[in-house]
Amino acid sequence: MGDAFILDAVRTFRGRGKKDKGALSGIHPQELLAQCLRVLPKRTGADPNDVEDVVIGVVSQVGEQGSCLARQAVLLADWPQEVTGVSLNRFCGSGAQGVNFAAMGAMSGQQDLVVGGGVESMSRVAMGSDGGNIDGNNELLRKKHFQVPQGISADLIATLEGFTREDVDRFAVESQQKAEAAQKAGHFKSALAVTDPETGAVVLDKDEHPRAGTTIDAVAGLQASFVSWGAMTLGPNGETLDEMALQKYPQVKEINHIHTAGNSSGIVDGAAAVMIASDRYVKEKGLKPRARIRAVATAGAEPVIMLTAPTPASQKALKKAGMSVKDIDLWEINEAFAVVPLQTIKNLGIDPTKVNVNGGAIALGHPLGATGAILIGTVLDELERRNLSTGLVTLCIGGGQGSRRSSNASDAESRPVDGAGIKTAWLDGSSQAVWLRRPRGGADEEPSYSSGVAAAGALLALDATAIGPCQTRLASWPPSRRPDSPFHSSATRSARGTSSA
Ligand SMILES: CC(C)(COP(=O)(O)OP(=O)(O)OC[C@H]1O[C@@H](n2cnc3c(N)ncnc32)[C@H](O)[C@@H]1OP(=O)(O)O)[C@@H](O)C(=O)NCCC(=O)NCCS
Repeated sequence: MGDAFILDAVRTFRGRGKKDKGALSGIHPQELLAQCLRVLPKRTGADPNDVEDVVIGVVSQVGEQGSCLARQAVLLADWPQEVTGVSLNRFCGSGAQGVNFAAMGAMSGQQDLVVGGGVESMSRVAMGSDGGNIDGNNELLRKKHFQVPQGISADLIATLEGFTREDVDRFAVESQQKAEAAQKAGHFKSALAVTDPETGAVVLDKDEHPRAGTTIDAVAGLQASFVSWGAMTLGPNGETLDEMALQKYPQVKEINHIHTAGNSSGIVDGAAAVMIASDRYVKEKGLKPRARIRAVATAGAEPVIMLTAPTPASQKALKKAGMSVKDIDLWEINEAFAVVPLQTIKNLGIDPTKVNVNGGAIALGHPLGATGAILIGTVLDELERRNLSTGLVTLCIGGGQGSRRSSNASDAESRPVDGAGIKTAWLDGSSQAVWLRRPRGGADEEPSYSSGVAAAGALLALDATAIGPCQTRLASWPPSRRPDSPFHSSATRSARGTSSA
């Protein structure tokens, strides 16, 4: 198997996903992605003529996000017309899957330069717009697996495992505080300012969803969002959604609804693209990668509870990489709902100070199809900033919990109504994880890794930013510096860290 290297990862700032109110709601989703694509050749030195495919996650593939968005964005970006594009849907794991497929292409030796990524404009193409409803409206499937909206699943996990409203609210406030601190410190400066394609004016140059100064009292006062959903009588015999969920978990008497607008992921617009190259391409072109993707994995879970699979997905990825939880320096566990990272941290015994260190989707938002690719860039930036080497990105995966809000946004109007106003959610019980490794050490130093796993003899081209304090570990690590390594070549990439194209 060959290696898959990340040449660069770009992401737009995220705008609130409210029609006419969010800063990106006037921008077509193709354009969001195209703006990411346009900067990649400049940042990496790679030639777009060499790109063999653009693999893009998009969840709601209708209307403006239909018609193979990936290919249309390639054309919009003025990339060569020979470059192909493909759109995929793995629900909230779509953006990560785009990168995974790109990495697999490079690892397999079939492709040398591939872009993976994702996009979602939730303001323009609302969740559930594809009309697939809970289960593709398949009555036979519904008899086998009666799936419920993911907010109910999140509340069910909390009920089963004893996470309280205080636990999830505290986690949410920390997400906001970490995002606020990161914004103030300029940690997101590598993100892309989005411009109006007609005028060139910058329409968004910071993440719009975080609420600076969020207090525990403020979030504690918010009403639980999924009580009314759980009370909807959508079961085959008039059962409520809560009752249908509890048929699978009879040990629970009642679901304790604790997730709110304050501790659930925000509805936002955004895009991300990650350029992946094979070792052959990197060597031939003298490029300097930022990281290597070591392992990718997906895992399924019981489809009613369905948000629990970041644990097995991470375990699978770690096993493939021959590593364990303690070898991971930084984690990005998508904050679809606060209970998801909390449960994953508990299950895997992760040090919570290594998780979502700059805040997550509760503060910054979760543009469904894009988030997985966004998180890869996020963790990579932070690994470089802290001179660390290993990161793991994982997301729970659900389906399109659709909400079409009427103009009067009252609680009653935002309830799921099967076939009408709001589409009920559908979720599949799966998850995925991407495990990254970036090199440490300076150009004249032997490589070192926090893990000490000697699987990366080729990782000799090192970011200048990666010179760090880990050299003591080299004594027990026998790196075989390869003089012929492509990573000894001087980098042709232009500097990263600019906030616009
Ligand atoms: C939970 C959910 C239904 C809430 O939707 P919403 O009501 O539109 O949420 P909003 O972000 O607009 O917040 C509503 C109100 O809550 C309050 N609020 C939200 N966050 C707050 C915070 N941190 N502090 C104080 N108040 C807050 C505000 O009053 C806000 O209204 P405002 O924006 O006019 O000030 C929605 O965010 C959701 O569905 N999230 C999950 C998405 C999902 O399922 N993704 C897939 C995961 S698998």
